[in-house]
Amino acid sequence: MSIFYDSLTPFYHLIYPDWPASMRQQGQQLATLLATEWPGQTRVLDVSCGIGTQAIGLALQGYEVSGSDLSPAAVARATQEARHYEVAIPFSVADMQHAYACHGTGFGVVISCDNSLPHLLTDEAVLAALREMWACLAPGGGCVVSLRDYAQEPRGTNLVRPYGVREEAGKRYLLFQVWDWDLSGDHYDFSFYIVEEDLATRAGQTHILRSRYYALSVAKLSALLREAGFEAVRQVEGAFYQPILIGTRPAAAL
Ligand SMILES: C[S@@+](CC[C@H](N)C(=O)[O-])C[C@H]1O[C@@H](n2cnc3c(N)ncnc32)[C@H](O)[C@@H]1O
Repeated sequence: MSIFYDSLTPFYHLIYPDWPASMRQQGQQLATLLATEWPGQTRVLDVSCGIGTQAIGLALQGYEVSGSDLSPAAVARATQEARHYEVAIPFSVADMQHAYACHGTGFGVVISCDNSLPHLLTDEAVLAALREMWACLAPGGGCVVSLRDYAQEPRGTNLVRPYGVREEAGKRYLLFQVWDWDLSGDHYDFSFYIVEEDLATRAGQTHILRSRYYALSVAKLSALLREAGFEAVRQVEGAFYQPILIGTRPAAAL
């Protein structure tokens, strides 16, 4: 997994037509959600921060953010990006299944966005990560997970998912994924193709990065959030570009 994201890191922003704009927009959307659901909570932990899309976005909204990710290259780039946007975020390399050992507790909100949890390939692994997120929270704190809506995805093989064409620094990039589902329809392998062309010389090369996802449904994730100890688990409609599930660590008994 880490190898896939280490290799994707230099290209990660190209997934978006305009990563800085998306990063700011996601920060605004999440800040609105956090202020509505857990007003007054200012300490945020992002346990799958990648290059910092949500962590930096939230820091720009005034949150005190910490971030970690399994990919050392993504963490290194997140650190650079945070410096560029002049926000102070302690980033570290950590598996979200061991987030508590890395970060301890006391956070107001813990997030894992953009389909990161489905990289954990079993219910047991997802549950382990959710229990760690729970442990990192102060009582009354909130958990935010965003993921693809796999109910909407047709099953099959050789399914193409285009991401678009970008131009940057004299190069053109064509990005697309090819998905191959297993027979059960619960998991799929995918190849991320990044075709890179030098516009001056017309020289080209193709990067092919491969990984696997568990098609974790919204219903299954809701059940696992409850099993991990979260209460008030629900999907929030229209808050983000992907389905969002939230849950709250129960407040301490008086
Ligand atoms: C689709 S990316 C999203 C990254 C970031 N949230 C964003 O939107 O830019 C998924 C991220 O999950 C991370 N990841 C996958 N498995 C992980 C694990 N077990 N612990 C921590 N991070 C993990 C990957 O390294 C990758 O950065």
